[in-house]
Amino acid sequence: MGLRAWTGQPNGSRGDDPSLMLGVMSVPMTPLDTLAWLLESGADESIGDTPIDRFTVRPAPPPAIAAATPAAAPVYRAPAASALKSASPLPTQADSDTIASAQALAAAATTLAELKAALEGFEGSALKQNCTSTVFADGNPASRILFIGEAPGAEEDRQGLPFVGRAGKLLDRMMAAINLDRSSAYITNVLNWRPPANRDPSPEEAAICLPFLRRHIELTNPGIIILLGAVAARHVLGYTEGIMKLRGRWLEYRVGDVMVPVMATLHPAYLLRQPAHKKLAWRDLQAAEQKMITLGLLEKHGSIG
Ligand code: URA
Repeated sequence: MGLRAWTGQPNGSRGDDPSLMLGVMSVPMTPLDTLAWLLESGADESIGDTPIDRFTVRPAPPPAIAAATPAAAPVYRAPAASALKSASPLPTQADSDTIASAQALAAAATTLAELKAALEGFEGSALKQNCTSTVFADGNPASRILFIGEAPGAEEDRQGLPFVGRAGKLLDRMMAAINLDRSSAYITNVLNWRPPANRDPSPEEAAICLPFLRRHIELTNPGIIILLGAVAARHVLGYTEGIMKLRGRWLEYRVGDVMVPVMATLHPAYLLRQPAHKKLAWRDLQAAEQKMITLGLLEKHGSIG
């Protein structure tokens, strides 16, 4: 088993720029590497006194939401927030009240600073109680190039910024490969608080954050959105189709009267575990780069034909 750098681009296809030639070296893992990997994966706390042999535990039945998977469609038009709200499994009145309060707070924010303050003052998410930080965003909100991930991890919670851990370092390299960085793109997450042990957010936890995310998107007025991973694709577009089916297709998200092009791709944390799939993400990013150039969001560089 080894750790690898971002090697999404086919060897040599990006010219001779040494900064892009990040190598395919396989490094043997020491016990310290393994510990660092576990920490980065979110396994940084004990959840029980006795070990559990997961091989003998029967798997839980799949969540009901899986049955509602829509048929594949070439272009998905995101439903209005109100439609998503009624389509989401919202079991309790308390959840509905919390979401209504999140919607009211988010709608009242007229600037990103107000939205950030509203989130920091919001006490409706149980996740927040276990977190150090409310993780809002990083990068250039005027860039109109918006990356949306899943949720903060341990390092993000510590620093209060999205994508600053190991997956974030890979995201930085992925962005650099298409001539972007945090001064020329903007990054946020579906969730603003870290779920314990980096587990997937529940539909209710995501539904509570979504009004803030939708307002966040409106206020940044993106010309293109890149969704990182299945959780972002599911919650931003309301799609339950797997990321392998969604990635690489042009999807759309409505902001006001405008349909914004959306590319869903593989999450950098997934790519750290499955480096062989970096080539798929690389294809998605190349398509996104071309679209950004066509839309005038990004200057054409010599290495892309
Ligand atoms: N993964 C995410 O989806 N977001 C982060 O901010 C960090 C890791």
